[in-house]
Amino acid sequence: MTTTSPALIIIGASGFGLEVHFLAERLGRRVKGFLDDNANLAGATVLGAPVLGKIESWTAHPECEFVVAIGNPRIRRKVVAQMGALGTPAFATLIDPAALLDQRLVALGQGSIICAGAMFTTQITLGQHCIVNLNATIGHEATLGDFVTIAPLAAISGCVRLADLVEVGTSACVRQGVTMGPGSMLGMGGVLTKDAEANTLLIGNPARMLRQLPPL
Ligand SMILES: CC(C)(COP(=O)(O)OP(=O)(O)OC[C@H]1O[C@@H](n2cnc3c(N)ncnc32)[C@H](O)[C@@H]1OP(=O)(O)O)[C@@H](O)C(=O)NCCC(=O)NCCS
Repeated sequence: MTTTSPALIIIGASGFGLEVHFLAERLGRRVKGFLDDNANLAGATVLGAPVLGKIESWTAHPECEFVVAIGNPRIRRKVVAQMGALGTPAFATLIDPAALLDQRLVALGQGSIICAGAMFTTQITLGQHCIVNLNATIGHEATLGDFVTIAPLAAISGCVRLADLVEVGTSACVRQGVTMGPGSMLGMGGVLTKDAEANTLLIGNPARMLRQLPPL
């Protein structure tokens, strides 16, 4: 990506938004600012970039690209849907220069964010608006649906299938060939040895269900 790329607007000016600002600067992208619905951030400056307004005001910046920097998959999907109801935003796909990802071997959906140290091998597919955070690993033939979030240091083994809106917590690992159903989550440090049902939250080693999550 070069400095001639369109200016970038980051949706979400809290935790992961700061990480994405860091990533955008590493890519030489000009960050025009943030959009955030948090009233406490109205008019604020975050990392030297202005909070330009609420998310719905994205339509005032047609020359820009957007990236939704919200870690929670369900909220991220909702925000993308809300933006899409007002038009067709151009979503940027951001890959940190220090990620190991060969785009001939990995199919990556629009709007996805790949952070420094993330490593992908071969025959991997990711849907739209996925996040693969710092130092996570994604093994051969893994498939990630849309709006999947992989936290730092997580290990996704070969042939794992993560359905839409799956979340894998920090330092969690998923055994090879295992499937996680839509909307399911593995908590930080979890070791998932068997398939996870849709909309379940699992923790521990071996991972067991903590509770049911709301339906998608
Ligand atoms: C699993 C998780 C979603 C549960 O959150 P929660 O619903 O708020 O649950 P609580 O913090 O109330 O914890 C409930 C119980 O489970 C335990 N617990 C919470 N997370 C746990 C985990 N990952 N592994 C083992 N036990 C866990 C708590 O200690 C608590 O135990 P207690 O009842 O004996 O006191 C959360 O702890 C988690 O792991 N989130 C992912 C964090 C992450 O990876 N962030 C990425 C940042 S980039």
